[in-house]
Amino acid sequence: MMIKSTNVSYSKDYIPFTRAELLDKVRLQMSQERFEHVLGVEKVAVELAQQYGASIEAASIAALIHDYAKERDLQEMHDLIISANLDLDLLQYGSEIWHGPVGAILAKKELRVKDEEILNAIRHHTVGSSNMSLLEQVIYVADYIEPGRDFPGVDEARKLAKSDLAKAVSFETARTLQYLILKQRKIYPKAIETYNTWVAKN
Ligand SMILES: [Fe+2]
Ligand SMILES: [Fe+2]
Repeated sequence: MMIKSTNVSYSKDYIPFTRAELLDKVRLQMSQERFEHVLGVEKVAVELAQQYGASIEAASIAALIHDYAKERDLQEMHDLIISANLDLDLLQYGSEIWHGPVGAILAKKELRVKDEEILNAIRHHTVGSSNMSLLEQVIYVADYIEPGRDFPGVDEARKLAKSDLAKAVSFETARTLQYLILKQRKIYPKAIETYNTWVAKN
């Protein structure tokens, strides 16, 4: 499946590369399948940014970089968590959780991204956070509903994303936690913070 490119042009305010140059760098980090996922996330992120008034350029950049660390060597990720003084609790979890915060570090180091909002969108794309900016919500939701995703509930999530982004964040957070509980998987505490803010009612 090849997704039509969004072709956003970059001002270089956020990153010192053209989109084509960034695409080449991202492609080298991952399988073809994951690269297509990344392009799908970009497509949806740009649409959501357009609809809700976030920066289209920032959405494109954050989407293209969000899974940059996902296929990195585990030992390298482990060492980065320690050398960058990240939350050491992370070590109790796996790369599924690590690649967000580690991705933000690599985005800064290797891709020279300085914009904190883009870095936060990468950092928080898997477990969310209690305080997500519009851009962070866009990436969190786009990652969940991109056209390559196919799971029960994805159509509901797509519908919500079109009508109310915060409701889509809430839906995704609730579904993800339900899934983890059903599978008796560990839950990273930050995902519970996201749940408490975006889903739980008093
Ligand atoms: Fe991811
Ligand atoms: Fe992703």
